[in-house]
Amino acid sequence: MKKKLIAGNWKMNGGLAANEALAKALLGGLSVPACNVAVCAPAPYLAQLQVLLANSAIALGAQDVSAHESGAYTGEVSVAMLKEFGVRYAIVGHSERRQYHGETDAAVAAKAQRALAAGITPIVCVGETLAEREAGKTEEVVKRQLAAVIHANGHCISEIVVAYEPVWAIGTGKTASPEQAQQVHAVLRAQLRAASDHADRIAILYGGSMNAANAAQLLAQPDIDGGLIGGASLKAPDFLTIIAAAG
Ligand code: 13P
Repeated sequence: MKKKLIAGNWKMNGGLAANEALAKALLGGLSVPACNVAVCAPAPYLAQLQVLLANSAIALGAQDVSAHESGAYTGEVSVAMLKEFGVRYAIVGHSERRQYHGETDAAVAAKAQRALAAGITPIVCVGETLAEREAGKTEEVVKRQLAAVIHANGHCISEIVVAYEPVWAIGTGKTASPEQAQQVHAVLRAQLRAASDHADRIAILYGGSMNAANAAQLLAQPDIDGGLIGGASLKAPDFLTIIAAAG
């Protein structure tokens, strides 16, 4: 059976002191995890976390990456830069980037492609808004978002991680029910199977108000291979409980 992946998305939170305390609390509370674990930190702190998490069971992730290799792209961070700090994963196409920074499906696909080419695993986020769900468009939206990434990446798709994050469940305390989440995960799995012979080894994470209380039920679903956790990843005991639930 493939290992589950529990990834924390710290978003724009933290600071030198808080990061150190959180990383130390996580490392102190983590025996040998049965699942893969990662934390996706703000770019300025990757160097700090590279040191704090060195030789540990917690992999380092970034929250975004440039689709460009290098050059005149003010504010962007390249895959080569991430590699220098030991980054294993990069979230791409988070709904907050799509919403506040106008990232298109094509831009997200290009970022995934750039990450894959550098040996960084893109965590490709897809998810519908509340209005889209209410209009019965959930499947159409997530399939369109994933199709762009499949189209741009061909057989390399087997190296990605997908995260289904319904926008209405992010930071709202409203979690998709395990059945609602499983339903969409099954759709995504079928789409991946149609594109790759290795679709069953692609981890499809659920994200959106996953917490210590609801993680076990969500993670018990057949196509939920882990979680992408925002708020609860900032509290060591909660994140550790979620990791234990994935064991
Ligand atoms: P919350 O867990 O805070 O709802 O955030 C989910 C998320 O967006 C992870 O990427």
